[in-house]
Amino acid sequence: MIALGCDHGGYALMQEVKEHLAEIGEEFKDYGTFDKSPVDYPIFAKQVCRAILEGKADKGILICGTGIGISITANRSKGIRCALCHDVYSAKATRLHNDANVLAMGGRVVGPGLANMIVDTFLNTAFSGDERHRRRIDMIED
Ligand code: RB5
Repeated sequence: MIALGCDHGGYALMQEVKEHLAEIGEEFKDYGTFDKSPVDYPIFAKQVCRAILEGKADKGILICGTGIGISITANRSKGIRCALCHDVYSAKATRLHNDANVLAMGGRVVGPGLANMIVDTFLNTAFSGDERHRRRIDMIED
């Protein structure tokens, strides 16, 4: 289950991502926002983080205008490792190395084609499990 959250700056791209997730048969729950009216991104970031920490979702996708505010917010939640990715290499590396559980993107930064490739890479790449990466993640969480 993927938890989704966005603000007005990410709303349009999130509609594209949702359509893509439905096409590839990925289960998701949308925590809003549900239209283009201006809203405060921390509300949606926190709802998605809560869903993951409560075990209601395995991963999250957050989108605001830049991806910055919403990722900063998400990373304040202990146990959340949110990666702001605007390229496929970073999406793959953050799963392999950081075991990131939330992907953030900027709806005003990337188009839907690249965003959906980033989503696919993020969802389909497993954590490497390497000791050195586990050790570093433990140090983050400590
Ligand atoms: C909203 O205009 C914008 O500030 C927000 O979407 C995000 O980019 C903040 O980091």
